[in-house]
Amino acid sequence: MSKHDDPHRHLETNLIHAGGEEAIAGAVIHPIFQSANYIMSEEATYDAVRYIRLNNSPNHLLLHKRLATIENAEAALVASSGMAAITTTLLALLQSGDHVLAHKALYGGTQMFLEEDAPPLGIQYTSIDMADPSGWEAALRPQSRLIYVEGVSNPLMEVGDLRAVVDFARKHDLISVIDNTFLSPVNFRPVELGFDLVVHSATKYLNGHSDLVAGAVIGSTKLVDRVRLKMNHLGGSLDPHACFLLERGLKTLALRVARQGDNAIRLATFLESHKQVRQVHYPGLASHPGHAWATELFEGFGGMLSFTLQDAAQAQPFLSALRIPLHAASLGGTESLVVQPARSSHLGLPEAERQRLGILQELIRVSVGIENVDDLVADFAQALDSL
Ligand SMILES: Cc1ncc(COP(=O)(O)O)c(C=O)c1O
Repeated sequence: MSKHDDPHRHLETNLIHAGGEEAIAGAVIHPIFQSANYIMSEEATYDAVRYIRLNNSPNHLLLHKRLATIENAEAALVASSGMAAITTTLLALLQSGDHVLAHKALYGGTQMFLEEDAPPLGIQYTSIDMADPSGWEAALRPQSRLIYVEGVSNPLMEVGDLRAVVDFARKHDLISVIDNTFLSPVNFRPVELGFDLVVHSATKYLNGHSDLVAGAVIGSTKLVDRVRLKMNHLGGSLDPHACFLLERGLKTLALRVARQGDNAIRLATFLESHKQVRQVHYPGLASHPGHAWATELFEGFGGMLSFTLQDAAQAQPFLSALRIPLHAASLGGTESLVVQPARSSHLGLPEAERQRLGILQELIRVSVGIENVDDLVADFAQALDSL
């Protein structure tokens, strides 16, 4: 064990030091190894050859150790995007004839992969409601291999019965995979609850500065190795410069997420009291249907919330009236962002399907940043009052 890997240290310390090596040439910061290939030594397998596509430069190895430590897992692997992490994981663990149980409202890219790309490969899926275990047995098939959920779903911020997901997976010999992008290991560490694998869009909270695209897969050495070998073939590796930026972003994760959570609960509480707002979706509110589970399992409720205005016609004027948040997709950065999911992430779905999922035109999603919360509340107040 290196002096940087003391198991008794806390997450805030591990975010800065875990997996660190002795200072290279005295540098306080781990340098960028911008070298595609490395001098050969005694490599016994192809995957041991050092090459950027094989995700094994010193920048990768440091991040792998750090991410595994902060999620309290054995191993981790970074990827060139969240979608590279997710699709490579599914392709590594599934084969033709296999069946997946997946939460009914997933991130659009994951949903489209399951709907459009997986069936021609012989992989089928059935939607389940992660908050209602009573329907899961009926969705099960002899070919079911994997159950896939999200810690907090997008854009309605649903929280499922995640403990039941883990128990169900164990009972039926399914691999349990959770996308923990919205919460980050500061708020929730699914491996501690018993999930087999955690995937992240590291583009979001893990990096936190809206300046790179990256992904991560975290879990047991056995499963992460299967994903790593598949990624070596599919090629979704992360560039060392992006590794460096991700490592830099990670250092402030705990500070950022704590502030985003504090700001989000203040903003959610304010929104709930405003007459132009019909409903607020935030797991930290007592009115949220998953509040009890979130309180039991999470340490903080994250910086993502959504709410419905009284009327669909108010959405565009409201977005235009806001002065601080930027009107942009993605999330988890230091700046507050607002988006109308029906016109962005879920634009590809037919209107009837959006209605079924509750993704209405008047739904606004907010990625709450680290700005001063009084400024944020005042800005949302003036935009709502202008309607
Ligand atoms: C929950 C979730 N998972 C996965 C992704 C995909 O990540 P990326 O854009 O880094 O490929 C996103 C992107 O918005 C997301 O919100």
